Amino acid sequence: MTEFDGAVAIVTGGASGIGAATAALLADRGARVAVLDRDISAVPAGRFGVVCDVTDRAQVDAAIEAVIAEFGELDIVINNAGIGAAGNVAANDDDEWRRVLDVNVIGMARVTRAALPHLRASKVAAVVNTCSVVATIGVPDRALYAASKGAVAALTLAMAADHVREGIRVNAVTPGTADTPWVGRLLDAADDPDAAEAALKARQPMGRLVSAHEVAHAIAYLASPLSSSTTGTLLAVDGGMAGLRLPA
Ligand SMILES: NC(=O)c1ccc[n+]([C@@H]2O[C@H](COP(=O)([O-])OP(=O)(O)OC[C@H]3O[C@@H](n4cnc5c(N)ncnc54)[C@H](O)[C@@H]3O)[C@@H](O)[C@H]2O)c1
Repeated sequence: MTEFDGAVAIVTGGASGIGAATAALLADRGARVAVLDRDISAVPAGRFGVVCDVTDRAQVDAAIEAVIAEFGELDIVINNAGIGAAGNVAANDDDEWRRVLDVNVIGMARVTRAALPHLRASKVAAVVNTCSVVATIGVPDRALYAASKGAVAALTLAMAADHVREGIRVNAVTPGTADTPWVGRLLDAADDPDAAEAALKARQPMGRLVSAHEVAHAIAYLASPLSSSTTGTLLAVDGGMAGLRLPA
């Protein structure tokens, strides 16, 4: 017997970074895992990958159908696909606001809605949303991104309340800055990448970035059938960023 014992899990944005680490960890612990990503070229051989842009309802519905056709059931949804946005509240135009909210917030609703009938039939149903520390503390130059993750935090609690009596648990992780290709791209775009990296590390009390594997471990904890009394929880994986105040 393994922890996930053949449960079927989908991981959106599972082709890179936190999602890829989560897909690998869940598979290691006995889950049958499908990766839903807009680009599945990096999905390792042997893992079930489905091309799915979470902003496209038809693609989302077709992806869930493909997972059911492949595995026959669906127990665990990891809503992880997300994109970033930089700047203060004036920095992004309306189209960019719509684009980021569409991926980061409505994408989670689309995927969960399509999965719900299958989750209701599962004995170990769980949804884990990848939120962010920016939903819980104010960080400069992240207005749009923070608004999207604040919505994810609220959506997580609302969904947890709606579905608790149906036996579906809903939780979220709130990572600090994590060492993934996303942050690599952010640093590459900076005027001084070394200084930008040092500033990101200094922002976290541990003085280093969070690893994708550490976030995956927290996601797996929340998704696990062993965590059967845990719902409506936002679990920080942020190196102490939200909760600690150290002397300068
Ligand atoms: N890296 C960080 O510092 C950090 C911190 C807190 C939260 N997060 C969150 O973690 C999640 C994963 O981030 P990451 O750092 O691993 O990023 P990443 O860029 O390495 O991976 C994101 C994945 O999502 C996929 N994706 C993007 N838009 C999509 C769409 N519309 N439909 C389907 N797939 C899509 C990408 O193809 C990619 O495979 C995001 O929700 C992000 O907001 C990241």
